Amino acid sequence: MTYLEISKEKIEQLRTRDDFLILAIESSCDETAVAILRNKEVLSNKISSQIEIHKRFGGVVPEIASRNHILTIDNIVKEALDEAKVTLADIEIIAVTYGAGLLGALLVGVAYAKSLAFALGIPIIGIDHIKGHICANFISNETLEFPFLCLLASGGHTAILNVQSYKEIETLGCTCDDAAGEAFDKVARVLGLPYPGGPEIEKYAKQGKNNVFMPRAFKNEKHLNFSYSGLKTAVINYVHNMKAKGQDINPYDVACSFQTEAVGVLIDNAIEAAKRNNAKVIALAGGVGANSALRERLVQKGKESNIEIVLPPKVLCTDNAAMIGVAAYFAIKEGADPSGLDLDAKANL
Ligand code: KG4
Ligand code: ZN
Repeated sequence: MTYLEISKEKIEQLRTRDDFLILAIESSCDETAVAILRNKEVLSNKISSQIEIHKRFGGVVPEIASRNHILTIDNIVKEALDEAKVTLADIEIIAVTYGAGLLGALLVGVAYAKSLAFALGIPIIGIDHIKGHICANFISNETLEFPFLCLLASGGHTAILNVQSYKEIETLGCTCDDAAGEAFDKVARVLGLPYPGGPEIEKYAKQGKNNVFMPRAFKNEKHLNFSYSGLKTAVINYVHNMKAKGQDINPYDVACSFQTEAVGVLIDNAIEAAKRNNAKVIALAGGVGANSALRERLVQKGKESNIEIVLPPKVLCTDNAAMIGVAAYFAIKEGADPSGLDLDAKANL
């Protein structure tokens, strides 16, 4: 029997069981992350962030990210196993992010996962990073069930998703240009703040006022899409115009005004999507989901509209491997096939 045939048999057995251990790997950007799960229960969730390494370049340098994943991954696997108090021999399936993300960074996780799975004689399953972000909601909220709406806002994606099941996901609105996190990062750079910009803008916004005009794209349109490039350009133009006039800008006020609009449009569109689709639950996902202003205002708007808001803890909003493990659990339960040794990294999915 080939490796894939053996994997198919093994994954069929896992579908009927509720006690199997998953080793999950995430390396799509600048976090090397490994988690161990027993079904949906997270036994360990280790994250090694490269933020300090990339900070001096003002953003993630793909080649440096890949090299650091190579240096780190073996240790993080060991740490995750130790914390979960299990050994490699106990693991029954390996889940790995195969896209979307930085190609070289993804390749490290995928190649490592394939080698380990082959050596252990266990199946491997490739997971879509976005499905991981969505499934992070199941870790902290045990009562959450399909279907629900998901407001996804990360460094690479911004969308409102109608999540019917693990397999069936309909996009109700998405960004036409920049992602929300990307806009946070770019605006932070304009203000001279370090990478990653989201948490920096959040800190500055706390000390500022919402008193600089920020435009809203698609204000009078019926669709629920986003555009962040106009908002980003508005900030850049404001800063340049003030400089040209020899006037100082107040970076705290700019950060607060930008953040208010950046999260405001996410909230307004998500609530509108829930109303139109008669959805009772909105779950938050992605790195921008760690933003306190977004979390607080979304909960407030949810209350006003009688919509339950599910918020994963901040550490599960940004990239981690626990979310990849939970996504694998649902993939297995919903009948997904294992991946073969030809599983390849994909920058875009
Ligand atoms: O989901 P994530 O960790 O990686 C991607 O899949 O892209 O998201 C990273 C993005 C970055 O753009 C970062 O600036 C943003 O999430 N982010 C935040 C906050 N924390 C991270 N944006 C706003 N407020 C935050 N507190
Ligand atoms: Zn992500």
